[in-house]
Amino acid sequence: MTEYKISLIPGDGVGKEVIREGVKVLEAASEVENFNLKFIYYPFGSEHYLNTGELVPEEALNEIKNSDAIYLGALGDPRVKTGILEQGVLLKLRFHFDQYINLRPVKLLKNLPQNLCPLNNKKPDDIDFIVIRENTEDFYVGIGGRAKKGKTKKELEMVRELYKIKFDLDIETDADEIAYQLGVVSKKGCERVMKYAFETAVENNREWVASVDKANVLAHIYDFWRVSFDSVSKNYPDIKTEKLLVDACAMFFVRCPERFDVVVTPNMFGDILTDLGAEIQGGMGTAPSGNINPNGVSMFEPIHGSAPDIAGKGIANPIASIWAGSMLLDSIGEKDAARFVMKGIEDVLKIGRVKTPDFGGSSKTGDFGDAVVDAIRKFE
Ligand code: IPM
Ligand code: MN
Repeated sequence: MTEYKISLIPGDGVGKEVIREGVKVLEAASEVENFNLKFIYYPFGSEHYLNTGELVPEEALNEIKNSDAIYLGALGDPRVKTGILEQGVLLKLRFHFDQYINLRPVKLLKNLPQNLCPLNNKKPDDIDFIVIRENTEDFYVGIGGRAKKGKTKKELEMVRELYKIKFDLDIETDADEIAYQLGVVSKKGCERVMKYAFETAVENNREWVASVDKANVLAHIYDFWRVSFDSVSKNYPDIKTEKLLVDACAMFFVRCPERFDVVVTPNMFGDILTDLGAEIQGGMGTAPSGNINPNGVSMFEPIHGSAPDIAGKGIANPIASIWAGSMLLDSIGEKDAARFVMKGIEDVLKIGRVKTPDFGGSSKTGDFGDAVVDAIRKFE
């Protein structure tokens, strides 16, 4: 029997609760389809960090490298300074495994409770597109710093010179301190994400690829992004293209989501837009994502965070995680199992009995997972 090794990092807060359901469901799908999933558990996250000071050690990265995929819950804990776990675990994994695609479907499932979608007149057919978020560059590269009055005047001059800050600021008289952060995009980085976006359009029979930027203000990096988009698009003459400024794009997500097929976006705008995308598809509890390296180890997770406000209550909606699990199965080549998982979610929604509180019900996280497992067993 084929066996796949899956690195399992439930992480913090509701991450642990929703991943437990995802594992249940994936195991049920693997039984129906006759393959084996070997989950290798890693404790990375806040508890582990607070107890040991360790984020993700090198030897774990070397082990994870040999797995077929990573299944991750969420990172973040109010007891740990914001950014430590997010950067030290989540971004560390994305960067280490060069997961340069963040694949985020925005799709309103059928049979969601009424009024869950905040866009009154929109139907499942209207909200159905794929966001391809660049996942390793842009403002996520972590280059930046601070320069302070007095002892670091030289540093400020260097910053000014290097990055051509255009205003006439005298640190001695006008400003006590500055902070700066750089966005960086590379030709290779742009081209590979553009290519992936166009290939996604071809594979899914989609007509349009929209590129997002803010080239009217952040001209250096996003002109570069645009040039790359135009150049890659020439290899796909049958796909229509448009270039949208990020602010207009946000407006269109709300006003006419039916306009979109595939959206390719720089990292930070993609982060923001996909929270908006999650809301229009029924809330953060429903939105999955895949951090993909087409030639390496990919990682699947819900878009939502650790939700400390509801953690430990067993009421988080596991749809996003289970859906991410379906994307994981798809990525390892178990396409039928992936479809069964989605069909399982859809069947449970159709019956409409099991609903977590965000869906207006009083079911527990585990009830939803159990219901999907039961639905999948029926496909045997
Ligand atoms: C996401 C998250 C992360 C991001 C954070 C936790 C670092 O918001 O996956 O969208 O900004 O990418
Ligand atoms: Mn985000």
